[in-house]
Amino acid sequence: MARRGDTPSMPPMNPVRAAVADATKGFLPAGEGAALHDAALSAPAGTWLEVGTYCGKSTVHLGAAAATVGAQVVTLDHHRGSEENQPGWEWHDPSLVDPHTGRLETLPSLRRTLWDAQLDDVVSVVVGSTQQVARWWTTPLTLLFLDGNHTEEVAQHDFAAFAGHLVPGGLLLIHDVFEHPEDGGRPPWNVFRRALYVGDYDEVGVTGSLRVLRRR
Ligand SMILES: C[S@@+](CC[C@H](N)C(=O)[O-])C[C@H]1O[C@@H](n2cnc3c(N)ncnc32)[C@H](O)[C@@H]1O
Repeated sequence: MARRGDTPSMPPMNPVRAAVADATKGFLPAGEGAALHDAALSAPAGTWLEVGTYCGKSTVHLGAAAATVGAQVVTLDHHRGSEENQPGWEWHDPSLVDPHTGRLETLPSLRRTLWDAQLDDVVSVVVGSTQQVARWWTTPLTLLFLDGNHTEEVAQHDFAAFAGHLVPGGLLLIHDVFEHPEDGGRPPWNVFRRALYVGDYDEVGVTGSLRVLRRR
């Protein structure tokens, strides 16, 4: 199984972008961010889709790799937060509430993150639910990163809606994949298993809860 450091020729992430990623709010530990960046460097150029942006932490890792490879990143989120980000839940951040709507609002933070990381010309921001965007999305993908809603229904929807657009040789990355229930929720694990055993993917890397698969 490939791990970070296996490929000594990987170019390191630009230090300005690495500092921005570190400073950005989010749910991606540093080692998984570095692994995301390194894995993305092995994806073909073309269109990469990130499902689940939040404030853009993982977007910077993907965007930095895309700038190196010559790919374009589309990052998709409705920016109102998942269930666990709402008031009263474990992962709620009151500083991200928009007083106008009373709801979580991560779009302004994302825009500042992309500005600071100098990635405005690499990353296109799509604001909408995955259910909305799946209705019109037709672009072939060379990389798909799944880190959106972690309910079973939506996680399965997002895989079904977007993985079919991955070209042969394209990378599928899934975050928050926990084999043991005591470590985390089931839906990303179930999506990972579905991809591996029902879909035509090979697992090519794992770092923490980040799984990397390649479409045959
Ligand atoms: C785990 S966070 C993403 C974290 C991000 N990748 C990072 O590294 O910081 C999940 C995101 O999915 C978004 N989300 C939840 N359900 C969604 C849906 N149905 N459509 C679009 N985005 C959704 C939330 O707004 C939230 O920002």
